Amino acid sequence: MTWINRDITEIDGQRLHPETLMMGYGYFPGLSEGAVKCPIFQTSTFVFRSAGEGKRFFEVAYGLREREPHEAQGLIYSRLNNPNLEILEGRLSIWDGAERSLAFSSGMAAISTCLFAYCRPGDVVVHSTPVYGGSDYLFEKVLPAFGIRTVSFAAGAGNAVLDAAVAEARRHGRIAAIFVETPANPTNGLVDLAALAAAARSLEATQATRPPVVVDNTFLGPLWQKPLAHGCDIVVYSLTKYVGGHSDVVAGACVGSSAVLEPVHVMRTILGTMTDPHSAWLLMRSLETLELRCTRSIENARRVAEFLHDHPKVERVSWLGFLDPASEQGRLYARQCLAPGATFSFTVRGGEREAFRVLDELKLVKLAVSLGSTESLASHPAAMTHSDIEPARREELGITENMIRVSIGIEHPDDLIADFRQALATI
Ligand SMILES: Cc1ncc(COP(=O)(O)O)c(C=O)c1O
Repeated sequence: MTWINRDITEIDGQRLHPETLMMGYGYFPGLSEGAVKCPIFQTSTFVFRSAGEGKRFFEVAYGLREREPHEAQGLIYSRLNNPNLEILEGRLSIWDGAERSLAFSSGMAAISTCLFAYCRPGDVVVHSTPVYGGSDYLFEKVLPAFGIRTVSFAAGAGNAVLDAAVAEARRHGRIAAIFVETPANPTNGLVDLAALAAAARSLEATQATRPPVVVDNTFLGPLWQKPLAHGCDIVVYSLTKYVGGHSDVVAGACVGSSAVLEPVHVMRTILGTMTDPHSAWLLMRSLETLELRCTRSIENARRVAEFLHDHPKVERVSWLGFLDPASEQGRLYARQCLAPGATFSFTVRGGEREAFRVLDELKLVKLAVSLGSTESLASHPAAMTHSDIEPARREELGITENMIRVSIGIEHPDDLIADFRQALATI
């Protein structure tokens, strides 16, 4: 057993799996009175053994000198580092096979800190639509107020629209980042990750800097889609969702190579958008059951999606498992997704009135925004998460008045189906 300071990642030739490593990676009981679980380091600052030590820690933290071989970054102040933050980040990196990850106080903190790290006035950001309402507001209102133009393309519409958006963006200035949400929230439209990576590479040749391809992987989560393996640069998460998984913590992350994340790290230190020790501790608790929760919720989602698909009051179910394997989106799904996920939308026959009726009648499934938790949730994107988007544009994006979004949890699937059956019977 590892008492002090060596992580075990392999036993007898067996490389340990992420779900195994979540129980202890990066934590050494010998440094914490033998506690089997990592305690919460609820402290804002750390005592230096001497002034010289404090100086050395700051030199490394502020990049004033190179770290010596085997020199660890010393603990300074919880906006810069904290054991809970560091252990969490070590464990998060494992799922995406990444060199590094950074944890944030929310998904929006991760997304906005990442974009502010890479964009300057006069730059352009290319992004897919639809995206989560908060990200949409950032692209439509916040970035333009800082002189950063945004050009969008529709997720699920093929690579020609992506190429056209890149060409248009180039006419306006340097492309500083390409941001996509795939599957898209709430339509589940897919964007070709390998094509994005290729676009970024060719931009490097024409504009001298390579824009990072940033993928919001919140919907499928780190188990079911690995954007770094398709050549993308930064994966962002709302950890509030599948990773947190219990609707009791708000947090986010950026995952990627050390070099690509360094500017984001510097920006996080200055903006102070890191996660706090208690939230980091909650997330470490959550990571221990991530695989179990995701596996169960995906199986439940399949059962619920199939039930809805055959229901006469339901018009369409946008679950990735129903994509035609011969279609362009179906082939893309087979190439880059490992499972169909447990969050999807469906449309009922009728409009807002019928959708609201179903939502109001649900007894077990809770009427709340968010997704990826143990309990099932249902919401109305047009009136809730995406209500900020101008109605005509919302319709254009496929977010209709009769659309309900569900996030399927880990309850017994028969109980969930019974709930949807009785709610749909009321319209
Ligand atoms: C796909 C996606 N990205 C980002 C976010 C923002 O995350 P947070 O609420 O943790 O800031 C959300 C929130 O719903 C989301 O659904």
